[in-house]
Amino acid sequence: MLKKIERFINLFTSLKVQKVKTVRGIPDAQFYKPYFSPWLGYGEFKPFVESAEKYTLVTADRCYVLYTFGKQALALGGEFWECGVYKGGTAILLAKVIAEYGKQSGTKLHLFDTFEGMPDVNAQKDWHKSGDFKDTSEEAVSARVGHPDLVVTHKGFIPDTFKGLENSKISFAHIDVDIYQSIIDSLNFIYPRLMSGGFIIFDDYGFPTCPGARQAVDEFFANKPEQPLAMPSGQAVVFKS
Ligand SMILES: C[S@@+](CC[C@H](N)C(=O)[O-])C[C@H]1O[C@@H](n2cnc3c(N)ncnc32)[C@H](O)[C@@H]1O
Repeated sequence: MLKKIERFINLFTSLKVQKVKTVRGIPDAQFYKPYFSPWLGYGEFKPFVESAEKYTLVTADRCYVLYTFGKQALALGGEFWECGVYKGGTAILLAKVIAEYGKQSGTKLHLFDTFEGMPDVNAQKDWHKSGDFKDTSEEAVSARVGHPDLVVTHKGFIPDTFKGLENSKISFAHIDVDIYQSIIDSLNFIYPRLMSGGFIIFDDYGFPTCPGARQAVDEFFANKPEQPLAMPSGQAVVFKS
């Protein structure tokens, strides 16, 4: 019967039915959907995703990528940067990673946003409009993220708000600004300051609604040794060599 259904589906679509055996009795069986999927709320990650979910556009699988690379980057002792904060969901998660796993590392989290919505966009490259995401404020985000000893907000336009931070050493950057020019401006500043062994995670690289994001990343890394790794989540990750 299954064979017949599979043949029927394959006849009308180009998709193959994936055969994954369900193994009974394995530890944590409820997280195999069909493969081990810790972003569904496994173990220590659960309170992290729960802290962010009300205030973020970023799905749990993408939050899991931030959580994992964030934990690893703590060992480098550099700064964490987030470009594109909006209501502060992923910033809450990153501040919690530092507070719970790396307080003694001295790591600071720098948050960059207009907190008044998208700047002008390039209509040839971007689908977003100027003023998108304006329903937020720096005060509300700072209160939500908390940890004033670890977190510094920089309100205004990227790259203007990078001024004065030329001596930064960055171990982890989350670039979630959605549009071509903002990604190029972020990369021009962050990449030379990214520590060896550090990461950049691009949230919107593979999103069909953000064509300028992929164009910016691909152009920037075309003449660099690092290769952006496109992920099934839509993100891309760069590991600094
Ligand atoms: C998709 S939202 C960020 C989502 C957020 N990380 C979350 O957890 O939901 C994109 C943000 O990028 C900001 N942004 C884009 N370009 C910018 C620029 N040049 N300067 C400052 N902020 C910018 C927008 O204001 C917007 O809040």
